[in-house]
Amino acid sequence: MTVQPSQITERERQPDAGLQTSGEPVVRIVDIHKDYYLGSVVVPALRGVSLEVYPGEFIAIMGASGSGKSTLLNLLGCLDRPTRGQYYLGGRNVANLSDDELSEIRSRYIGFIFQSYNLIPQLTAFENIEVPLYYQGNVSPESKQRVVELARLVGLERWLNHKPTQLSGGQQQRVAIARALINDPYIILADEPTGNLDTSTSYEIMKLLVQLNDMGKTIIMVTHEPDIAAYAKRAVHMRDGKIIKDEPITQRRVTSDGPVPAGAQLTASAGQDAGE
Ligand SMILES: Nc1ncnc2c1ncn2[C@@H]1O[C@H](COP(=O)(O)OP(=O)(O)O)[C@@H](O)[C@H]1O
Ligand SMILES: [Mg+2]
Repeated sequence: MTVQPSQITERERQPDAGLQTSGEPVVRIVDIHKDYYLGSVVVPALRGVSLEVYPGEFIAIMGASGSGKSTLLNLLGCLDRPTRGQYYLGGRNVANLSDDELSEIRSRYIGFIFQSYNLIPQLTAFENIEVPLYYQGNVSPESKQRVVELARLVGLERWLNHKPTQLSGGQQQRVAIARALINDPYIILADEPTGNLDTSTSYEIMKLLVQLNDMGKTIIMVTHEPDIAAYAKRAVHMRDGKIIKDEPITQRRVTSDGPVPAGAQLTASAGQDAGE
C-alpha cells in the first residue's frame, strides 16, 4: 500500500494533537523482522517484535549490545525498512514506503536525538535547529521565532550564534533536542542520548527530556544504562532481537533528586537485570 505523507497531516498540525486522540497508539509495530545480509550470511537483528506506543509515553529500550535496540529505533524512525512486519505511524502503514516517502515522513513526523549529536559543523546553533525546516521549504519569520522559543526552552538562547565546536557536549545535545522539536513531531527518538556525556551533564539532559515528556512529548529512548532508563516511564527489554520484558518503571527517578552519585545503588526496576 502506498501512503502519501499528506494523508497524515491533519492530526499533526494541531498542537499536541496526539494527546487528544481517542487512545490510539501513535506507533504500532506488528511482528517486525529485520535481517541484515553480510555477503551470504543472514544476520537476524529483529526476530518478531511487536510494540504499541501511546501519546505521552516515555519508553526506555534496554538490552545488551547487539540485542537489536538501534535496529528497532532506526525502523521506528523510518531510517530503514523492516524485512517483514507492519509499522503504523499515526495510524498509517509506513512499512513499505519508498526512500523518498520515508524521508518525507522522517522530516515531518519524527525527531531524532543521537549519541554523537549529529550537528552540521559549518552551521550555527540557530541554523542547525532550523535544518529540518529547510528540507520542507518551511522557513518563515514565524519559524525563526519558533527557533528562538525552542532555544529558550532548552536553555540555549545565548548560544544561538555559536558553531558546534564552540559548544560543550551538553550544549550540542541541547541544540539537537531543539532541532528534534522544530517540526512538533509525533515521536522523539533518542539513541543513547547521554552516551557521550559526563554524569552531571547527563542528568541535565535527562531533566530536559523529562520536562518535554511532561509537556506531552512522546519519547522513545535507547539506553543500556539503568540509571538513565530510570527517568522513563516504561522499560522495554530486548535480547537477541526480541522483546523479553515490557513493564512500567515503578520507582521512577525524579529529576529533583539530582545526578546519581558515583557507585550508588540503582533503585529503579529497570535496573534489576543488569546481568542481561
Ligand atoms: N548494518 C548492519 N549490517 C549487518 N549486521 C548488522 C548491521 N547493523 C546491526 N547489525 C547486527 O544486528 C544485531 C543488532 O544490532 P544493533 O541493533 O546495533 O544492536 P544494539 O543497538 O542493541 O547494540 C547485531 O548482531 C549487529 O551486529
Ligand atoms: Mg545500538
